[in-house]
Amino acid sequence: MTHKGREFKGIMGGANYKRLASFFGIGTKFYQKALGDIDLGPGMKAVDLGCGPGALSFALAERAHESAVIIGTDISNDQLDYAGRHAGRFQCRLEFKKTSMDGLPFPDGYFDLAMTSMALHETPPEVRRGAVREAARVLKPGGRFLLTDWSRPQSLFLTMLWFPMVFLGEKNRDNWDNVYPNLCRESGLDLMQDGYISSIARRQVFVKKTV
Ligand SMILES: C[S@@+](CC[C@H](N)C(=O)[O-])C[C@H]1O[C@@H](n2cnc3c(N)ncnc32)[C@H](O)[C@@H]1O
Repeated sequence: MTHKGREFKGIMGGANYKRLASFFGIGTKFYQKALGDIDLGPGMKAVDLGCGPGALSFALAERAHESAVIIGTDISNDQLDYAGRHAGRFQCRLEFKKTSMDGLPFPDGYFDLAMTSMALHETPPEVRRGAVREAARVLKPGGRFLLTDWSRPQSLFLTMLWFPMVFLGEKNRDNWDNVYPNLCRESGLDLMQDGYISSIARRQVFVKKTV
């Protein structure tokens, strides 16, 4: 763990990470459900925070207009290299850039969509706060922020397995009921949609205030 978060590299990076994620049911269908009704029209731009090997960016690219642009960001060269090697099969422009999600090298109001999946919980609280602030800053007014991450399990059985993990570290806690929505509200993002996409993962969509 660096001071910016857990960098997924070596046996946890690239193709290895993809295999591990699909073992937990995090594959193509999962990312399609995460996106819901979100797409990217002509000339629109999106940024993916903590993009890993690029699965959420690729799911968006499948439905994006050919003139759209998607930029994935991560702190891991292994993840970014994998994503870059698999970006050629889409019509829209895909770029991958090494940067921490709490310090995005993009101008204010540059993107129509900011998104992140399964990455915020891998960062310390101050980075998480900075990431939401940065997502809000780089969004255009009216732009959307899609946040997907672990949540408290829906079933009683999984809740019983999950509960002891809460005592093993801050990153295992459920951040949805107040942490994430509060961070977003502080940054001028209003909650529009909220729901589970699997028994243990949830998505929320926020919109940046227009004034
Ligand atoms: C669990 S993986 C999720 C990857 C991807 N979003 C997905 O859904 O497959 C978390 C990713 O966040 C990255 N990460 C951790 N801290 C970060 C930070 N401060 N800024 C950007 N990426 C970070 C890790 O390197 C890793 O690739």
